[in-house]
Amino acid sequence: MCKSPLHPLLTALPKYEHHVHLEGTLSPSLLFTLAAKNNISLPPSSPSPSSPDPPDPAFLSPATLSARYTSFSSLSDFLHYYYLAFRVLLTPADFESLTYSYLSHAARSANLRHAEVFFDPQGHTSRGVPISHVVDGFLAAAARIKAEFGLTATLTPCLLRDFSVEDGLSCLKEMISSGFYRDGKLIGLGLCGTEISKPPAMWKPIFDLAKHHGIHRTAHAGEEGPAAYVRAAVEEFGLERVDHGVRAAEEEEVVGFLVERGVMLTMCPVSNVALKGFASLGETPVRRFLDRGVRFSLNSDDPAYFGGYLQDVYCAVEEAFGLSAGEWETIARNAVEGSWCSQERKAELLDEVEKVLRGWTEKGE
Ligand code: ADE
Ligand code: ZN
Repeated sequence: MCKSPLHPLLTALPKYEHHVHLEGTLSPSLLFTLAAKNNISLPPSSPSPSSPDPPDPAFLSPATLSARYTSFSSLSDFLHYYYLAFRVLLTPADFESLTYSYLSHAARSANLRHAEVFFDPQGHTSRGVPISHVVDGFLAAAARIKAEFGLTATLTPCLLRDFSVEDGLSCLKEMISSGFYRDGKLIGLGLCGTEISKPPAMWKPIFDLAKHHGIHRTAHAGEEGPAAYVRAAVEEFGLERVDHGVRAAEEEEVVGFLVERGVMLTMCPVSNVALKGFASLGETPVRRFLDRGVRFSLNSDDPAYFGGYLQDVYCAVEEAFGLSAGEWETIARNAVEGSWCSQERKAELLDEVEKVLRGWTEKGE
């Protein structure tokens, strides 16, 4: 909870999330529960039995793991723990529990109304877990969430830059030929993992294929990479959105390019600070982007790892920048406009924004 007089507005404001990794919502306590259920040993055993690494003490208990999650030194330090945790996710029921636990929490605590959730297909197929297990579990939970909270949720695979381009291409081909896009079970394509030494041009054939099939496209860019990386990703992939994109702020010319193209950034300021991209939240370019007219939404990224669930992200931004009610309205409206949902659903979501803001103004606040 923030100390701002706007806190009641911030809790009531309907939220739209476009950048949350399903696997990034796996809390230490659910991780230990699923490990016990699926008979998976924690800590994970050493890759080399002849010269074993000492066991990582972070895996002693949910509490020690939570404590370790407070001190990531970089994106790659975080990704090490993030990928290790995938091994406890095996069955459709596991993915259903994970999805239900995140979305129900976000609906109650943040008034989340529409979520476009990422998952990492190659992180599962490489362990022998089929994509259909993730999709079936997610959709079962999403149907319950829609019925209970009226919250709509869709699923988008993020290919991993840590795997080869060939692997990514065959993964996308498999998702297309399995009918996941045709049936509306998946709606877009993303790209995540480290940007270091992975220039956008490498992944162009993958995004060309997605474009050919009319699939929505986004990619993590400008989290680690410079402003030029963001511009190249938008141009090479024909992106509608950029995930993070914060380093674009370093080049005025790239900021102007994003405004001109109407590209929406899915910002995750709490994640950026947790992964040491910025020393404090006040240094992230929230104010700069608002003033320059860059469209963005605010997101949690991997909330179970960064200690910032969606409501915490909104409160942290308010504490750092002291935005006005009008600026929050702009953020909410841009987030709806940048969503990958029907015009009809967008109209409903915009109505909800308007009602909350009208109520706030009428109270004279
Ligand atoms: N996968 C999950 N979270 C990520 C992040 N913040 N950056 C890149 N890849 C990710
Ligand atoms: Zn991300």
